[in-house]
Amino acid sequence: MARIAGLGVGVALVLWTAACTTQPVDSRGGTGGAGGTLPMAGQGGVGGTAGVAGMGGMAGTAGTGGSSGRGTLGASALPCDVTDLVKLRCQSCHGASPLAGVPMSLMSLEDWTAKSISNPAMTVAAVARLRVHDMTLPMPPTGQMDAADLALLDSWIDGGTIAGNDPSCAPMIETDAGPTYEGDIPPFADDCYEIRAHANGNWDMPLAVTGENYGTFYFDAPWPDGAQGVWFETLPGSNPEILHHWLIYADQNGNSPDGQVDYPGLGSHPTAPTLVAGWAPGADNNDFPDDVGLQLHGANRKMMMEIHFFGPAGQSYMIDAGVKICTVEKAERLRPNTATISWLGTELGIQIPAGAMNHPATGTCNPVWPQGVTEIHILRSWPHMHLLGKKMTSTIIRADGVTRVPMHSGDGWPFDFNSEISHETDFVIHPGDKIETTCYYDNDTPFHVAVGFENRYEMCFNFVTAYPASALVSTGPSSLTGSATGCLF
Ligand code: HEC
Repeated sequence: MARIAGLGVGVALVLWTAACTTQPVDSRGGTGGAGGTLPMAGQGGVGGTAGVAGMGGMAGTAGTGGSSGRGTLGASALPCDVTDLVKLRCQSCHGASPLAGVPMSLMSLEDWTAKSISNPAMTVAAVARLRVHDMTLPMPPTGQMDAADLALLDSWIDGGTIAGNDPSCAPMIETDAGPTYEGDIPPFADDCYEIRAHANGNWDMPLAVTGENYGTFYFDAPWPDGAQGVWFETLPGSNPEILHHWLIYADQNGNSPDGQVDYPGLGSHPTAPTLVAGWAPGADNNDFPDDVGLQLHGANRKMMMEIHFFGPAGQSYMIDAGVKICTVEKAERLRPNTATISWLGTELGIQIPAGAMNHPATGTCNPVWPQGVTEIHILRSWPHMHLLGKKMTSTIIRADGVTRVPMHSGDGWPFDFNSEISHETDFVIHPGDKIETTCYYDNDTPFHVAVGFENRYEMCFNFVTAYPASALVSTGPSSLTGSATGCLF
């Protein structure tokens, strides 16, 4: 994977930073979308435009730059009304582990009575008293709080930052507890876990987000070695209308600390993680046949949840959406077959001229067939495109090169961006067989459209659940997403 990571990621970064700027929509087509240099394996040089037109020239870094500030210093409670205020107005940045670039935590009483980092002659509370009224450098930075909030904070600070006497308002800090789950466990599972979007380092604090972005939430696998995933249920959280997908990955080459959040994230993954499960609007909760469970993690037990949210530009939301994962863990209940999800379809094959209707993009999965594997069982297909996607076909081409077995009925799976359902596709393939996937688009815009992570660009993925684990994988150029189980091109 490392062989292409550098260039592939570079391209994706350019693609993402374009997303962070307020580009007019008509830059979508740009010039010559088809002519770009592609991030192929082994290709030298840089500076290609990846067939993603209108993207050149953007520089800058995405993700959290800068280092984190002072973490929380104690556990003493603030008065409950003050706790409520700072939770809402301050802690999305000044959490137990502050966001990158934020000087300190504002969780416990100790954090408020400590010396200010910028001015050790003053307490943090005294500096905060000034900053919340400062018209040029207000806190929160997004603008002054309303008069009631200001009055409450002023009177608490002016009164000497007295401790609260209700322990239930003490800061809830889970330094390393990670995800927890206290609900019911279905009879077919041994345990369940809830993974939710949260602020950096604080599993209890929703993440403040704006516009269209990706957030990546890293965690250490909370389940034992060898556990299989058998149920994945979307937890829509407080703002379900802005959720565009969640994807859970096993980050087998990653090393990010438990609880770390990358926001805005990239949508590309330099560590080539393996997709475990996913959801987009309209998709069902995922369960599996009785004899199949999903592989949940690799040797290093590092995991990540990626959320793509898609809100109106400039509007802020707190996201706490996530996924409930139920597992089988006991030896006698482990299922005989362990599956993974492969990415079929194409990325760089997506070139849709302005105005083109029923325009195809095709990719063929030609698996490598690991030593000893003579059958790959295909269980489900989950088509994913963006706004212009209309239909998808996936057809097995048998080793004789002429026998074609469609995995869909009729002339393909109709596609609806707002209802991305999956289909049972109970097929077995053998060495020499390939799977050809074609996406069809109606481009009713005046722009040439190519692949991209934002919804105004397109995708063509059939997420196929198959076993043995990681068998349905090709050697070709890797995915822009960095996925380890790509079977594209
Ligand atoms: C969106 C993120 C964000 C939110 C929300 C936020 N802050 Fe900040 N805060 C920052 C950043 C970034 C800095 C460092 C840059 C600066 O000082 O302007 C900072 C600095 C400060 C400082 C200066 C510390 C020092 O020692 O100089 C204080 C005090 C402060 N914040 C208080 C607050 C309070 C009180 C709230 C809530 C009422 C709040 N902040 C909400 C991001 C945030």
